[in-house]
Amino acid sequence: MDLPTAQDLLPRADPGGRAVLRAVLAGIGGYLPETVVSNDDLARTVETSDAWIRERTGIGQRHIAQKHESCAFMATRAAAAALADAGAEAAEVDAIILATATPDEAFPATALRVQAALGAGGFGFDLSAACSGFIYALSMADAVIRTGQARGVLVIGSEVYSRILNWQDRNTCVLFGDGAGAVFLRAAPGTGLGSDRGILSTHLHADGRLGDILYVDGAVGQPERSGHLVMHGKEVFRHAVHRLSEAVDEALAANGLERDAVDWLVPHQANMRIVESIRKRLGLPLERVVRSIERHANTSAASIPLALAEVHGQGKLRPGQLLLLEALGGGLTWGSALVRL
Ligand code: UT7
Repeated sequence: MDLPTAQDLLPRADPGGRAVLRAVLAGIGGYLPETVVSNDDLARTVETSDAWIRERTGIGQRHIAQKHESCAFMATRAAAAALADAGAEAAEVDAIILATATPDEAFPATALRVQAALGAGGFGFDLSAACSGFIYALSMADAVIRTGQARGVLVIGSEVYSRILNWQDRNTCVLFGDGAGAVFLRAAPGTGLGSDRGILSTHLHADGRLGDILYVDGAVGQPERSGHLVMHGKEVFRHAVHRLSEAVDEALAANGLERDAVDWLVPHQANMRIVESIRKRLGLPLERVVRSIERHANTSAASIPLALAEVHGQGKLRPGQLLLLEALGGGLTWGSALVRL
């Protein structure tokens, strides 16, 4: 197939105009493990209840990966679904950026396992930013497209948190689930204005001083440690509400947009109470908030693309609509992306 170069795609700039390359969301896909574990199922093994989990988090169930449903397996399924949704072949993929905190191997990068499985070329790498991973990956993909390094980029979030949870710890084990979500981005010429289709902006933040309020205690470099997720929930909650409120204001201000310009809020699905506080700040009706937490729980870097795949599958997304994505996770890391469909 004869593909245009990045230069071919650039429109001829009018005098005073600002020709830009935009990363346009061309396809969305997701994969959820077949096994579903309800709150009642968990209440049989730890001291908890469906009522407590629903009331404090909004979670009703989670999908849990079986042995064959590895990080790479789920990522490949989600990526293939995103390509099919875009009507794209693997030959169109120039780069794969995969966000995960639970890769199958220290290396090669899970992104390259996916590349091989799809029969794609180009380059790829994994990215570690915990629950903000998809926003970080989207931002990197936007950068490689804007600089002409790639024209077709797969951005994937894939997580098997079930393998890093302490299943005796009710403070954490009820919160997370497994799954993968992906989007396929295509380079397209834009005018530099907010009416362009594609990623309009991304904003990334991190504060490493807060690393001890949400972490996994171990990895390949420390095999003597358990490798379990530890969270000081109340503190993370407090930071999430503050930082994400700042992040949504920052995204809108940077684009000169008012709150009512947002068609869909697509939040990281960690806790419905956090989502509610951001929704109220934006003054959005609940129907304009993409919510999958009840069915998926918190799937970390996969949560935003999985939520997108769900609402897309319901046929609710329309060309021209403005999506505001936001997430906060271990690191701490947080950020936002504004995307016009
Ligand atoms: O995705 C990355 C970002 N993560 C987040 O954004 C998560 C942020 N944090 C949260 O979502 C919430 O803090 C949690 C859902 C984790 C916890 O909710 P909380 O309202 O902050 O509860 P808490 O931790 O203060 O616990 C309240 C009570 C405690 O009992 P006492 O000490 O008051 O007697 C806990 O022991 O609830 C108890 N508790 C539970 N009870 C039943 C904690 N977990 C459970 C449970 N079932 N699963």
